[in-house]
Amino acid sequence: MTLLQAVQVRHSVRRYTDEPLRKEHILALTEEMEKVNQESGLNIQLVTNEPKAFDGLLNHYGWITGVTDYFALVGKDDETLEPLCGYWGEHLTLFAQTLGINSCWAAGTYRKIPDAYTVKDGEKMLMVIALGYGENQGKPRKSKTYKQVADAPEDAPKWFIDGVECALLAPTAINQQKFKFTLREDGKTVSATAQKGPWSMTDLGIVKYHFELAAGKENFAWE
Ligand SMILES: Cc1cc2nc3c(=O)[nH]c(=O)nc-3n(C[C@H](O)[C@H](O)[C@H](O)COP(=O)(O)O)c2cc1C
Repeated sequence: MTLLQAVQVRHSVRRYTDEPLRKEHILALTEEMEKVNQESGLNIQLVTNEPKAFDGLLNHYGWITGVTDYFALVGKDDETLEPLCGYWGEHLTLFAQTLGINSCWAAGTYRKIPDAYTVKDGEKMLMVIALGYGENQGKPRKSKTYKQVADAPEDAPKWFIDGVECALLAPTAINQQKFKFTLREDGKTVSATAQKGPWSMTDLGIVKYHFELAAGKENFAWE
């Protein structure tokens, strides 16, 4: 399965079987995560066999259950942290999906377990991504339309339309989809912006990753 195919089948999964991540999957995720950290400067960590983050009170609300493995998104605590974690976290989420591993981003419905990961001076743990084998595969949800999030002429190039459609399939906090893609007059420059909302700058990194995946980096430049 390619990353683009993973976009089509991935949905947030909130109920997991009690099977921990298999050894070969831990190895593959770790290898990919290390590449990401090298390229991005982030300090993302794979936490395994840690049941407390998604255990206890929260479960009574039926939010996210059965999770013992997750990515902790850690990096330098400045204004780039949210978009960077969004962009690279989504790469890892889709990479996991290609291996048959389900996931759910979690900014709120988990408990921070500081012993489970390392946060160096000047760094922050932004949020986590739950990983595991789902009891189900999740399901499609409501989405804004192309016209609601795209600002481009009627005859916009196919790569732009594909990019926006792929961004509409991306996870966003509380499914808010508070983003907009604008095609500039030169037909090659794209601006991506976020409206105000909880975690909307993390969402922006996520949707920019999706846009690039379908539009092809060679076809355009970010403003
Ligand atoms: C930055 C971010 C934070 C999120 N935080 C939570 C969370 O705390 N709890 C939760 O159950 N889902 C959380 N989600 C998952 C979203 O609710 C979900 O992605 C959205 O409803 C769209 O559904 P989909 O992922 O199935 O496409 C979060 C998603 C993102 C991108």
